[in-house]
Amino acid sequence: MVVHNGIIENHEPLCEQLRERGYTFVTQTDTEVIAHLAHWEQRQQGGALFEVMQRVVGALRGAYGTVIMDIRDPSMLVAARSGSPLVIGRGIGENFLASDQLALLPVTRRFMFLEEGEIAEITRRTVRVWDQAGESVERPEIESQVKYDAGDKGLYRHYMQKEIFEQPQAIKNTLEGRFSHGEITLSELGDGADALLRQVQHVQIIACGTSYHSAMVSRYWFEAMAGVPCDVEIASEFRYRKPAMRPGSLLITLSQSGETADTLAALRLTKKALGYLGSLAICNVAGSSLVRESDMVLMTRAGTEIGVASTKAFTTQLTVLLMLVARIGHLRGMDQEIEEDIVHALQTLPSRIEQMLSLDKPIETLAEGFSDKHHALFLGRGDLYPIAMEGALKLKEISYIHAEAYAAGELKHGPLALIDADMPVIVIAPNNELLEKLKSNIEEVRARGGLLYVFAEQDAGFTASENMKIIPLPRVEQIVAPIFYTVPMQLLAYHISLIKGTDVDQPRNLAKSVTVE
Ligand code: M6R
Repeated sequence: MVVHNGIIENHEPLCEQLRERGYTFVTQTDTEVIAHLAHWEQRQQGGALFEVMQRVVGALRGAYGTVIMDIRDPSMLVAARSGSPLVIGRGIGENFLASDQLALLPVTRRFMFLEEGEIAEITRRTVRVWDQAGESVERPEIESQVKYDAGDKGLYRHYMQKEIFEQPQAIKNTLEGRFSHGEITLSELGDGADALLRQVQHVQIIACGTSYHSAMVSRYWFEAMAGVPCDVEIASEFRYRKPAMRPGSLLITLSQSGETADTLAALRLTKKALGYLGSLAICNVAGSSLVRESDMVLMTRAGTEIGVASTKAFTTQLTVLLMLVARIGHLRGMDQEIEEDIVHALQTLPSRIEQMLSLDKPIETLAEGFSDKHHALFLGRGDLYPIAMEGALKLKEISYIHAEAYAAGELKHGPLALIDADMPVIVIAPNNELLEKLKSNIEEVRARGGLLYVFAEQDAGFTASENMKIIPLPRVEQIVAPIFYTVPMQLLAYHISLIKGTDVDQPRNLAKSVTVE
């Protein structure tokens, strides 16, 4: 019997070989080759099940975690880790295997993490581990620090809704203990960190999906406030090109799960490349592969996120990134006033988000206008452009409405051609130095009969009209506007998805943690 998470890339030649040996395949899955191969290896050379697994794994290519059991001896499982995560949960008179500690938290808090290429033999009472070279190794047992607070939705209909409403508390947790005398400290980075961060001349951030969007926001912050050049790249692109090294570059990886295959692969790749000052992971899951393999770590402390659509993980990532910008800026001589503004804005953020959440009802009403729409366009400028991207991602992910985001200044370079009365255009319009520019972009849409939904601060000077709805929002400190304006985007996507009757927490074709390529 086989359990398999991941991809066996060479399953076709293996299938061919096994067919020639007389095996009949009854499924279309790559998993089936593992079962036949194990059977073949056992018949040919015999040996203990872990030895069979060692030979099977030698023939497999790809990224996977797998477990096999000989049905004649169901008291023993043998697991192999290659590219995908695998954890062993220790119990009393029972042991468990899973791809994520979260799945096992209801039954145990004691874990052993398999390293790359390792094989484990598990019975009810024993665990034995062999490394890639076939040597027997001891793996430490770790008490999980992950708080299992996600078991129950409480009064909420969905995990996503619960997680949106948890954001004020999640951000409070993220901030806790990270200030001292009005200064951001981040002492958990360790003793040598300040010396290292002082040398940073460039920041390279790598992430996927929603985490990539928070990285994009931070690029504006790193350059404008800390004066540090910053590049941001999607992990699946970064890992397959040959990036040129910048002097004094710090590598930051961003991930809710810490198990995203592409982000991990990019981190491993850069470890081989000479020249990075070090790697820093910003992550929500303690004990994850990304956390274990990075030189420095900042935990986002969002609490367990169950909904596939990431919400509180995103806003807490932004919170951590802003603190990091302040810390690096401070060490490199940033204007003290800017640091004070950041500290003040962060401290007020939880209450600002509370205020925003009180707009849930009006946003629910607004969502009704989208139920028959097939497309939507999101516009933003500056550090709100990535929030437009995040709004579009949330909408397409859970409501299956095709949504795109544009930097509003790009409209006239193509997307204006899409504008008609059937194309809702969502505009993120904070009261910042780009507001007047944004108003001109809004005019371009209005003049072409587009249907506008403008999320703007009360005093931003917009007047509603038949095809322009204004959603008045409370005032916010501009530094944290990207975090603040994310919340109505989340609520809008959530309510549209409810109206459309899609599966909010488990959208089709998606997984919470993408542990394979
Ligand atoms: O766990 P990670 O932050 O590395 O995950 C990256 C993406 O897979 C993830 O953010 C995805 O885009 C979300 N489902 C979006 O809501």
